[in-house]
Amino acid sequence: MKKIKVGIAGLGRLGKVHANNIAYKIPNAELTAACSIVPAELEYAKEKLGVTDVYTDFREMLEKADIDAVAIVTTSSEHCWQIEAALDAGKHVFSDKPLGVDVAQCKQAEKAVERHPDLTFMLGFMRRYDKSYAYAKKKIEEGAIGTPYMVKATGIDPEAHVEGAIKFAATSGGIFLDMAIHDIDLMRWFLGCEATEVYAQGCTFKHPEFQQVGDDETAMACYKFENGAMGFVHVGRTAPHGYHVETEIIGTEGSIRISAIPEKNQAMIFDVHGAVTECVGSFPERFDEAYLLEMQEFIDCVCEGKQPGVNVYDGTKSTAIGYATTEAWKTGKIVKIG
Ligand SMILES: NC(=O)c1ccc[n+]([C@@H]2O[C@H](COP(=O)([O-])OP(=O)(O)OC[C@H]3O[C@@H](n4cnc5c(N)ncnc54)[C@H](O)[C@@H]3O)[C@@H](O)[C@H]2O)c1
Repeated sequence: MKKIKVGIAGLGRLGKVHANNIAYKIPNAELTAACSIVPAELEYAKEKLGVTDVYTDFREMLEKADIDAVAIVTTSSEHCWQIEAALDAGKHVFSDKPLGVDVAQCKQAEKAVERHPDLTFMLGFMRRYDKSYAYAKKKIEEGAIGTPYMVKATGIDPEAHVEGAIKFAATSGGIFLDMAIHDIDLMRWFLGCEATEVYAQGCTFKHPEFQQVGDDETAMACYKFENGAMGFVHVGRTAPHGYHVETEIIGTEGSIRISAIPEKNQAMIFDVHGAVTECVGSFPERFDEAYLLEMQEFIDCVCEGKQPGVNVYDGTKSTAIGYATTEAWKTGKIVKIG
């Protein structure tokens, strides 16, 4: 079997998840190089992933490493130039979300993808590969709920990890670009059309550190779509019970709810606290299978010379909507999405 040789860029929280999948769980891929600006992470690559060809400079990895493809899991502001450099160096590219942190950057990445139609490019909106979200999409396409006219999405990070969120708040781009981008992509995907306007608000009740750097702890946004459908997104960082991601799609003939209770598994504990279902604690736990399935899809597309379902334009569209949402939140006005 031909194995696709992959170099990974970024070995932080999510980079380690992708690196382990490529190294150990995807039969037609091998991890042959790694790049990080954090020396300890390169030691991790050597010790835990068996990758000795390591770099601190991304362009040097492109130049010297024996790789067919790169997986970009670096800080969001690095994605677009790295996508462009990798494609121009003749490598297939997987980039995690967001595509870029502003629309101009995203357009540059679009041009690079268009320059290289022979190379595979995939953006990592992994929720589309989660079995429940993929099932919901299939049921909608089969007409199970009639015409979908509303999506309600909730994404609340666990309060147990709030210190990390506070640390990154000043550079995260704000709560919407940081957190709501998955929900924005899912609304477009489920409704099958584009958002045209948005209204948003935010608040902070527990951790004033967020407002000190111009961010908020919790926020909500309402969207109108071009066919008249509506979207509602609620994001936050203080879920006491775990990592709470929940989505509801409502149609003319019914509705679908995904993860109404973000349960850890199907076990229920009956004790002095009552009947208790534990919740998932973090994004790698909730979406572990989706991260594997999306990377398998990328590798299979490289092998077969195909393009995956999530493309560069999905990245630009979601970033543009995230920007408009941020503007609506900052100004308190309804913002048209161009
Ligand atoms: N799909 C998801 O659910 C999901 C979840 C978490 C993070 N993400 C995205 O993944 C990316 C990484 O997030 P994280 O939480 O792992 O961040 P992190 O801060 O833990 O790790 C960032 C990594 O990027 C590397 N890096 C930064 N600049 C670099 C450069 N110029 N060259 C090489 N390496 C560089 C750092 O060395 C580090 O390894 C972000 O874009 C984030 O939005 C996606």
